[in-house]
Amino acid sequence: MKILLTGSGGQLGSELQATVPHDITLVAPPEAEFDITDATAIDAAIRQHKPDVIMNAAAYTAVDKAETDAEIAYLVNEKSVHQLASAAQQYSCRFIHISTDFVFDGLQNKAYAPDDACAPLGVYGASKHAGELAVQAILPPSQSLIVRTAWVYSTHGNNFVKTMLRLMREKDQLGVVADQIGTPTYARNLARVLWRLIHQQTSGTLHFTDEGVASWYDFAVAIQDEAVALGLLNKAIPIKPVATSDYPTPARRPNFSLLDKTTLRAAVGGAGQHWRHALKDMLENLKGLV
Ligand SMILES: NC(=O)c1ccc[n+]([C@@H]2O[C@H](COP(=O)([O-])OP(=O)(O)OC[C@H]3O[C@@H](n4cnc5c(N)ncnc54)[C@H](OP(=O)(O)O)[C@@H]3O)[C@@H](O)[C@H]2O)c1
Repeated sequence: MKILLTGSGGQLGSELQATVPHDITLVAPPEAEFDITDATAIDAAIRQHKPDVIMNAAAYTAVDKAETDAEIAYLVNEKSVHQLASAAQQYSCRFIHISTDFVFDGLQNKAYAPDDACAPLGVYGASKHAGELAVQAILPPSQSLIVRTAWVYSTHGNNFVKTMLRLMREKDQLGVVADQIGTPTYARNLARVLWRLIHQQTSGTLHFTDEGVASWYDFAVAIQDEAVALGLLNKAIPIKPVATSDYPTPARRPNFSLLDKTTLRAAVGGAGQHWRHALKDMLENLKGLV
């Protein structure tokens, strides 16, 4: 099976390349040569490589910047997704697309199921939701797979774990938001699940995160504990729980964004890794890189 990957330089794109199964041919052009806003480039890449599957790991992911950069957010997260899905239709490829917990408003108090109503709070979430709708409007459900995920981190790129490690080295104490609840997700685990779903030709809309529940505060405390134990940090600093209202950001975020993984667990035959164990794996891998 041949897969054409967009967003090869991102967290997920990098982990997909690091975990590619032996029976898959992965074509992952550098982003500079494969801009998904360029319909001609998409067309040329598909004609050249003749993939069975197009996997879209590219996205505009700057949540706060999107509030003032809506045009680019929609260009990448909606219009380009529309173009990719149209190309998948034209060349009879399957299309795998990644979306986000930010399509929900976070007002629910039980995990969001894939068919729960979407009500994004900010531009990023709204643009990603528009991208989902574009996929669903263009391709029959059997030809596409949308996987929503949340709180993604990896050894590549910028993310909460790497920001916390930097701040924990620079500062004497830290306040971290304790009233937003979700599940941290190691991009490597997401990549592995996507390879399984591709093999099984799973379609529709599914949710995947690592297992368990945390606030950003819980996540920060765990990052520090594990990083000190691994020698990535040489001291622990006090970490205080703070309220979202004490840490204003341009974009509103869902307070509660647990994703219900029942359908995905059934598709892959069980639960995945607990976020705490995944965090330890990521930090061990990070240690191997420094
Ligand atoms: N990160 C999270 O916490 C999170 C949470 C939920 C869902 N997701 C979703 O998961 C998917 C993967 O996210 P990620 O964490 O891997 O994000 P990421 O690290 O920001 O990767 C996205 C990649 O897409 C690239 N890109 C942006 N515009 C492009 C364009 N026009 N053409 C080609 N590539 C372009 C980015 O390049 P530049 O860096 O050069 O812009 C970046 O390398 C996305 O769909 C995202 O919405 C992420």
